[in-house]
Parts: sequence; C-alpha cells; structure tokens
Amino acid sequence: MKHQDIIEKMTIEEKAAFLQGKGEWQTWDFERLGIPSIFCSDGPHGIRKQAGAGDHLGLNASLPATCFPTAATIANSWDTELGETLGQTLGEEAMAEGVNVLLGPGLNIKRSPLCGRNFEYFSEDPYLAGKMAASYVKGIQSKGVYACPKHFAVNSQELRRMAMNSVVDERTLREIYLTGFEIAVKEGKAKTIMSAYNEVNGIYANENKHLLTDILRNEWGFDGIVITDWGASNDHALGVAAGSNLEMPNPGLDSARELIAAVESGKIKIEDVDERVDELLDVVLRLSDNAKGKKDEFDIPAHHAVARRAAAESTVLLKNEDGILPLKPGAKVAVIGDFAFVPRYQGAGSSMVNPTKVETISEIIGNYDVQVIGSSRGYSRNGDEDAVTKKEALDIAARADFVLYFFGLNEDSESEGMDRNHMRIPQNQITLMQELGQVNPNIIGVISAGSAIEMPWHHYLKAMLHCYLNGQAGAGAVMDILTGSVNPSGKLSETLPRRYEDTPAYRYYPSQQRTSEYRESIYVGYRYYDTAEIPVLYPFGFGLSYTKFEYSDLAVTDKGVSFTLKNIGDRDGAEVSQLYVGLPGAKVFRPVKELKGFAKTFLKAGESKKVEIAFDDKTFRYFNVKTNKWEIEGGSYCIMIGASSADIRLKGEASKAETTAEIPYVKESFKAYYSGKIQTVSDDEFERLLGRSIPDGKWDGSLGKNDALCQMYYAKSGLARLIYKILTNKKKKADESGKPDLNILFIYNMPFRAMAKMSGGMVSMAMVDGIIRLVNGHFFGGLGSIIGGFFGNSSKNKAYEAKIKGGNK
Ligand code: BGC
Repeated sequence: MKHQDIIEKMTIEEKAAFLQGKGEWQTWDFERLGIPSIFCSDGPHGIRKQAGAGDHLGLNASLPATCFPTAATIANSWDTELGETLGQTLGEEAMAEGVNVLLGPGLNIKRSPLCGRNFEYFSEDPYLAGKMAASYVKGIQSKGVYACPKHFAVNSQELRRMAMNSVVDERTLREIYLTGFEIAVKEGKAKTIMSAYNEVNGIYANENKHLLTDILRNEWGFDGIVITDWGASNDHALGVAAGSNLEMPNPGLDSARELIAAVESGKIKIEDVDERVDELLDVVLRLSDNAKGKKDEFDIPAHHAVARRAAAESTVLLKNEDGILPLKPGAKVAVIGDFAFVPRYQGAGSSMVNPTKVETISEIIGNYDVQVIGSSRGYSRNGDEDAVTKKEALDIAARADFVLYFFGLNEDSESEGMDRNHMRIPQNQITLMQELGQVNPNIIGVISAGSAIEMPWHHYLKAMLHCYLNGQAGAGAVMDILTGSVNPSGKLSETLPRRYEDTPAYRYYPSQQRTSEYRESIYVGYRYYDTAEIPVLYPFGFGLSYTKFEYSDLAVTDKGVSFTLKNIGDRDGAEVSQLYVGLPGAKVFRPVKELKGFAKTFLKAGESKKVEIAFDDKTFRYFNVKTNKWEIEGGSYCIMIGASSADIRLKGEASKAETTAEIPYVKESFKAYYSGKIQTVSDDEFERLLGRSIPDGKWDGSLGKNDALCQMYYAKSGLARLIYKILTNKKKKADESGKPDLNILFIYNMPFRAMAKMSGGMVSMAMVDGIIRLVNGHFFGGLGSIIGGFFGNSSKNKAYEAKIKGGNK
C-alpha cells in the first residue's frame, strides 16, 4: 500500500467516513491526519460548480462557465485533437473554479434513440465513443484535474434508472457496452470512473466485482478510484469489497456504520477497506497537490472561441441540393424560427451549465454579408398554433430568396431522468415548414436536437444542417458554415433511421418491468441496419462538405491501411475517413461491418495526402464466451474504407489465423443472431445467448427498498397509493407544461433506499425499512420503526461525529 503510514493512524470510523461524500460534492477531510477534502463537479461539456446549495439535477445556480457543445455534438467532429483541446479548456476552468474531479465525459452507448440522455453521450459505436472519451480524459487530466468517465456500465435507459436491471450477454457487454470504457481507461488513463445506477445482470454496477475488479482493475489496469453515481450505492460494504471507493453524494454516517458492521461481522474484509482507502488517499493527496498555486481565472473569450470552433467542426451538413449552400455574399434571407431567437444549445439535468454568454442567430446575423429581409419566430415553442406569427413568417419568407429555418427538439423533449416516447419533432414546426415550402422553394433547415429524430419532412428542405446541441457559441458556428467561411466537416456519430419502428431495440426498450433485456445483442445502430439490410435515412458516418474527396491506392499491411485522399473540389476542407472491418461467411456471428479506425484529414483544394490508419488490438477481436477471452476468428477479412458506413470507397483484404478452435455458438440454434434480424428474438434463443435463464423482472405486489417510488402503484397501503397518485399528477402537469420537473422525475424514478442514501444522514436504513413496511400495509409497525429509527439514528450520528472529530481509537 502506498499510504500505509496514514492508514495505520486512521480509526475504523475515519476510514468508513472517508469512503463516503461529505455534502453534495466534497469528500471528508481529517485535519489531524493531514487529509484534505476534494471537490467534484459536473459536467461533461462545461463546469457546473455550485457555490451555494448543491443538487445533482442542475436545479440550483452554478458559477458561470463556458458551455461547450455536448458530447453527442462533438462526436460528429470525429476529431480526437479537438476532444483533447476541449478537455484542456474544461480542465483549466475546473482548476480555476477549485474543482478537482470533473464528472465526465459520459459515454454510454446509444442503444435506442429514445434515451433521454443521448445528448450527453458520444455514439452508438463503442470505438468512436471510446476514442473521443479518451481524448477528453487526456486533455482534462493534463491540467491536474481528474476526469470521471461515466456511467459504468450498461446504463442506456433513464426510466427507473436507479431501479432496473440490465440483462445482457457477456459478449455484448464486452464488445458494445465496455469497449468505450476500456479505451478511456487504457488510452486516456482515466483516474476515476463513475459506477452506474442500474444493476448489470442482477448485481448493482457499484457492487459488481466482475465489472469493477476483474475487468476494470485487473484486465484494464485501472489504478484510480471508483465513485458511485449520485445515489447509486445500494450496499456500500459490498461496493467496497467489489472495488468501489467513494459513495456519493452524502449518505450520512448510517452508511459508515453499516460498513463498520460489515467488517465486524466478517461480511467484508478490513483489507478491502484499507485498499479502497489507500487508492482514495492517493487520489485526494495528488489532486490537492496539483491544485496548489492554481490560477483562479480562465480566459473567457479564448474559451468561447474554442466552443465556436468545436461547434463548427461538429456540424453535419445532411443535404445540399443544387449547391444552395454556402450562401452567396449579399444573399436575401428570411430568418424564421424560435430557435433563431432562443437557441437550444444544451440539455437539461446534471450537465446544465450556466454559460458565460450565449450567442443567438438573431443578434449576430447582422455581422455577416447577407441581407436580412425580415425575421420571425414563426411557431411557438410550446406546440400551440399561432396564426399571427405564422402569417408574419410566411410573408417574410415570400419576399426572400432563401429561408433560413431554425427548428428542432424543444427543451421538454429530451432530458436526464426521462426517455422520449417517440422520435418526432413538434407538429407545429413541421406544419410551418410545409407552408414555408409553398411560398419559397429555397428552404435551408438548421436543426437543433440532442438525439436522433425522424425526418419524414426532409424533402421540404433544400439544405439541412444538423447542429445537435452546439453550445454557447453555436450561432456563430452556424453562420460561418451557412456563409462558407467554414466548410462543414462533421459526420454523424449515430444513424438517423427512417422511423422509430426500424430501430433494433424497438420491442425491448425501455424495459417496463425491473429487467431490461438486451435481446438485440451486438446489433446496435449501424451494426443492425447494415446486417439486417434495413434502409435508413442518413447512415452512421455520413456528412457532406462544400468540396469533394477522392479515395485511391489502398494498401493493406499487417500493421494497418494506407490510401490516398484527394480534395478534388475548389474549396479547402476536411474529410473523415472511416475504416470498417467485416468477415464474410464468419463462423461466429458478427455484423457485416464494424468501425475499427478513423482519420480526419484537412486538405487544401486540389491537394492530396497519404492517409494511414493503424490496426490495433480491437481490429479483429471478438469476445468468445466459451474460452472467456478475446479471440480472433481465422479467415480473410474485408477491409473497407468509407466516407460513411454506407459509402465504401475502397476495399481490401487481410488474412488472420484463428486463435481458438472453440466456436461458442451452434448456427442452427442462433437463427436471429446469425441473420442479424433481431427485432423479435425468442425467449429460447435469448436464453441460449445468455447461457442462463432469463430473470423474472415482474413485480409481485410487495415492494422492497430497491423498488422505485413510482412502483407504489402496487402498494398495499392506501396512503402510499395516494402519494403515488399525487406524484404522478405532479409529473403529468410538469410534462404538459412543456418543462420537465427534474425533481419530480428523480423522486418518481428513485428507489426507497435513496431516501437514506441521499439525505445526508437524516434518514437511516432502519427508517427506510419502516417506510417500506408502511407501504406494504403494516401501518403501525412501519410508523413505529420510522419514529424509533429517527431517534436512534440521530444519537448514533452524534456519537460517530464525536469520534471522528476527536480521532478516538
Ligand atoms: C447523474 C450523473 C451526475 C451526478 C451528479 C446524477 O444524477 O446521473 O451523471 O454526475 O448526478 O450531478
């Protein structure tokens, strides 16, 4: 152990308290031992340091910070250098604001377009997500602040996020849901990691030894600390034994007492506690040291400029009929759409940043060489029809040569804490788009949306720029692209399907009961669409430029590929080239192609360059559940270089020898998986894939500490059912008002145990047990336990506090 000297001096009470948060964001400090406290803050695309009242939902104010584009946006840049630059600026701001651990990036896989937090995540592809996350981590950590990739792992659903069990086979777990984290840890050298709320195969992520010790620490060599998501700890003692260090945010000393009791009863070993304390000490001491003599300021304009460059590099040009873009100097434009006045540039929840400033199109368009005929909000954000504003918009549009139409997903459509229930944008925006098309054929759509949307209306638009959620400087970036001073180079980091029903997890998402069955297995995103031959609207990796690129001269060696890329247009520009690998006729089922590398190359008009993409340990591997190892199937692999997953420009071959003769699947028994048609996998086939029976996730009517409050619907107690009704009504009202109430959403989806784990010591687990008895119909017994628990808890808390302040042995 590195800090044996300190650990020897610590009492068990100090050790147990040290392994939990003190307040919403800090760790415990112990003056007598020289242990300082460290500070954690969200979030992935800007610092949310709360100087006053803290909360993990983005409700209370935070200090001003640069709001960069969200991860879903930046992933479209496919630019790891940009990721590193963003990481550096985030790290600088964190340091200036006294933040030691930055709670991001978020890199959960976009299993379904409906996940409410997709705007915070990079991609449907683990390789791209991992590379982008690693670049952020490197940048952040280069400034002496630790990054905290999250949420580890298989956390792709918001509904009852703290009370659901992701049921996934080991191969899918490894290839799809863990590979990104593996890259963030091995290549990014992340020093902290956040364990997810959910269970993975029946064991809470934070207590999951397979994840936290076998894979994270032993296989990947992670030598930092695991921090629970806020309220994600179920049994901290089991967490500590499994490899988790810090229980956040503020579970109170009841949890510390439970940890001590677990050691005393032999449930866990003191050696596990000491190891977790040692790892945490190492991080706390290092981070405090890093912050000595820190600067208290950062360069606000320079960081705004980085945000603008990032937004520009990440914008995807989806369509550009007749070369309508870029606009010619002096073009007569109409500016239509509420988003041009009130931009949607970030998402709701714990990642919400208080920006240093926000640019809007309506304010800055005057700085560009275009003639604005007029501007109108056109539609109202709450979905209501507004005939007067609509008429105003149509009149202006009729007089302009081009209509710049700003639209997308409203604030209430996507948020932490809830999943969407469809992929549509509001109908009033579509209606206006159609009517604009009748008065002016030259409509240029500028979309803001943090996740994939259906676009059955795309033919109304001549050009489409997809900006995702592009941060506080997004408006400038959009204008730069529209007017041509920046040539777009973003490409989609997720597929835009034609309709929601086409998506692979359509029948399985979100789970209605306690278990979420990942029946689609490895067929997520383009892996599914390509293999099952489902047509999509815009494929993964797609994006246009104002110039054109030509690919030639592919050479494949043992080490990787090289090819020549030429800019054959008359504008400078950058191209994202993608390396995909497939194995035709594979004995082990696999998608027809998988992303295994990419490069972004800038070329002047007419210039050509040799591009090289190296193979790595992930290029040919698959996870073999029979040998329980990564293996390589022997054969002649198809090496594809594409401008998108659907636009393969060059093909070659690479031969590989097999590493095992053990084939984990019998083809005849895995028909869905061998065909890729996985939308209706039978119970039998899924069980064969899992290698065990499908767990029963149904509620039986009696509620436990890990059931969500919204399950009080099943409660025996009339009082509990009444509380359920009140909560549901409040949630409904908030939903209807167009602004999700994050507090209500959180409470609705949180399990009973969180009342103890997140109340800073006011509620103990004994009290929670009383509440559950009450909910299950034992009113008086339950009430007795609550009252008794309350008094017992406060006196025990006082005694504990006295011990740690005095440092008694
Ligand atoms: C979110 C995390 C976040 C934490 C602290 C949780 O609700 O899931 O992503 O870092 O709160 O705000």
